[in-house]
Amino acid sequence: MKIKKGIAQEGFVKWESPSNIALVKYWGKYGRQYPTNPSISFTLSNAKTSTSCKYTIKENSQDPIISNFKFEGKENLAFENRIQKFLTSVIDYFPVLNQLSLELESENTFPHSSGIASSASAMSALALCICDIEKSIVEDYKENFTQRASILARLGSGSASRSVIEKLAIWGKNDFVAHADNDYAIAFGDNVHTDFHKYHDDILIVSKNEKSVSSSAGHKLMDGNPYAEARYQDANKNLGLILNAMKSGDHDAFIHIVEREAMSLHALMMCSDPSYILMEPNTIEVINRVRSFRRETNIPVCFTLDAGPNVHLLYPDDYTDKLTPFISEQLMPLTQNHNIIRDHVGNGPTKLD
Ligand code: PMV
Repeated sequence: MKIKKGIAQEGFVKWESPSNIALVKYWGKYGRQYPTNPSISFTLSNAKTSTSCKYTIKENSQDPIISNFKFEGKENLAFENRIQKFLTSVIDYFPVLNQLSLELESENTFPHSSGIASSASAMSALALCICDIEKSIVEDYKENFTQRASILARLGSGSASRSVIEKLAIWGKNDFVAHADNDYAIAFGDNVHTDFHKYHDDILIVSKNEKSVSSSAGHKLMDGNPYAEARYQDANKNLGLILNAMKSGDHDAFIHIVEREAMSLHALMMCSDPSYILMEPNTIEVINRVRSFRRETNIPVCFTLDAGPNVHLLYPDDYTDKLTPFISEQLMPLTQNHNIIRDHVGNGPTKLD
């Protein structure tokens, strides 16, 4: 890797990147952040991170990569150290980092303490900034930019690999999509029924409290989980089923898989050793109310869960008006301080001026 000759020694890039919600979940990893099963997610729109990066091409490769890190306008040493450690650990994949000194500023469009996992949006925004710098300063750059950003995002947080892709992303080798890869996520939005381009995701914040077990500790516990192998096979099978449902626009089949995936993720936590529960009583109450409402009305609304207590309510755009009273009267009272983030499937990251 060589830096182009005669270029400016400093510059600035800024990217905004969204969060995503998995429909078939990634849970368990090996090696350098490779997934033990394939996953598929909706890329969101409103829940996003914007990161700006002022860079200088440095003389001495021993100097730290990060010279300053501000989160929501304030210096944040804990985050700075984490990112410094992460970027140092990926220099073998991204040698350009040896030549860079970075001043970063990052902020989320959703409240940091809302209980929404921000690692996917944060890591993908950071990866896009770095790959963008790489693209503009490295001589004879021939990489696929999106793939490269997805790889770097993945190394930071597995699920972040999917956030660089618009609408619908698949990450991980599987039996159904030949060009899917463990290194990076690929786009799949163009292959599904257009109903799924306009899906809503209303995130019901049941609790803002910090999780008792982090995602990385949770992934690790899959190593000793007696159901791990069965889970990896089930996830692969579920990917095939959900792809068929999404191609044909079969909402019932879609709902069936999405809800089983959410339940399987939490069941795996409950039978890990040590076992743990991330759902709260109101998580279960929301689930029960969603299922009763669907039975009574036949409206294709379903839930999914991340590694936490908050419930993602998924439904097609056409049903928005019919769902609004149900959400505000029956679900909002079960959230912490009537906290809800209304989001929908989005078009992926944007480069800002
Ligand atoms: O990206 P991580 O390591 O925070 O893992 C996230 C895993 C889940 O959100 C629970 C599922 C997924 O596929 O996003």
